[in-house]
Amino acid sequence: MDITILGIESSCDDTSAAVLKNQYVLSNIVANQEVHKTYGGVVPELASRAHQQNIIPVVDTALKKAGIEKKDLHAIAFTRGPGLMGSLLVGASFAKAMALSLNIPLIEVNHLQAHILVPFIKEAEKNGPEIRFPFLCLLVSGGHTQLVVVHDHLKMEIIGNTLDDAAGEAFDKCAKIIGFAYPGGPRIDKLSALGNPNAFAFPKPSLNGLNYSFSGLKTAFLYFIRDAYKNNNQFIDNNLNDICASIQKTIIDILMEKLILASQQTGIKEIAIGGGVSANMGLRDRLIYEGKTRDWKVFIPEFRYTTDNAAMIAITGHFKYLQKDFAQQDVAPMARLKY
Ligand code: KG4
Ligand code: ZN
Repeated sequence: MDITILGIESSCDDTSAAVLKNQYVLSNIVANQEVHKTYGGVVPELASRAHQQNIIPVVDTALKKAGIEKKDLHAIAFTRGPGLMGSLLVGASFAKAMALSLNIPLIEVNHLQAHILVPFIKEAEKNGPEIRFPFLCLLVSGGHTQLVVVHDHLKMEIIGNTLDDAAGEAFDKCAKIIGFAYPGGPRIDKLSALGNPNAFAFPKPSLNGLNYSFSGLKTAFLYFIRDAYKNNNQFIDNNLNDICASIQKTIIDILMEKLILASQQTGIKEIAIGGGVSANMGLRDRLIYEGKTRDWKVFIPEFRYTTDNAAMIAITGHFKYLQKDFAQQDVAPMARLKY
């Protein structure tokens, strides 16, 4: 039997809807919200209002592009959390109403689990090798940095976590310090390609075990830039590419050190990355390099499935549908949601 799922993602500042049929993407529409750029971060109230405006056209476009009628849908999957409450409420309320009106199951999805299940999204044009369980996922997004052992589609074990900032947050905060608009991570990535990653050295946390910490790095970076600027107010402009390449390398070094340790401790050599920061070219290249030297099988997501998207919500919905893991109409979104 075919399984056609509509996925809806609205946890932060992107409104997205996707249709997947038997794990294959028929459409994946993402509306980015430009409104936050001038504020240096996502403004929750503005995000919910933009979701409210975007959600009907985005869902409508996803269905049309997929060539799917509403009556052909088997279930609707939506992001329950974690995320911004006002943003989550828009997607959750919409999904509930639509599932109720079509009399089909409603499926609640954890946004982080969805990032991790991206390797199972299939596309008609190309299909890479299947990832095998158990695999290790380095989940790096704007709000989370975790090392996760994935035992099964829906059975995941967090073995490492950040104690403070997330990797994406570290990118964005450092970017803000040197004057980039939010989110600055992608711009650091771009300029890093033109700079020397060993031009400047930044301190790395000395944490035992598999946990991460990025807040010390951000502070060290702030002081470094402040002091250098005091001596030379052209410092940032004259060294921009090198500054970007050096801070990016430091963040990647920190990420990779624990990932390598996690692989050694668990003996797992199937390695995936996911979340917005997995779009970073430096991280992708380093993973390929480390993979070769350590005999890892690495899974690097397509760019369109790294940052927030509804295809990942729909693929998670697909596996929950198989388990008949359905939500009730009284399900409430949760800003903090464990898995
Ligand atoms: O997964 P995501 O879209 O949203 C959350 O769930 O948080 O991740 C967004 C984060 C932002 O911090 C953004 O700066 C970062 O991912 N990001 C990048 C790149 N593309 C997105 N960071 C570094 N290099 C990139 N190319
Ligand atoms: Zn995300």
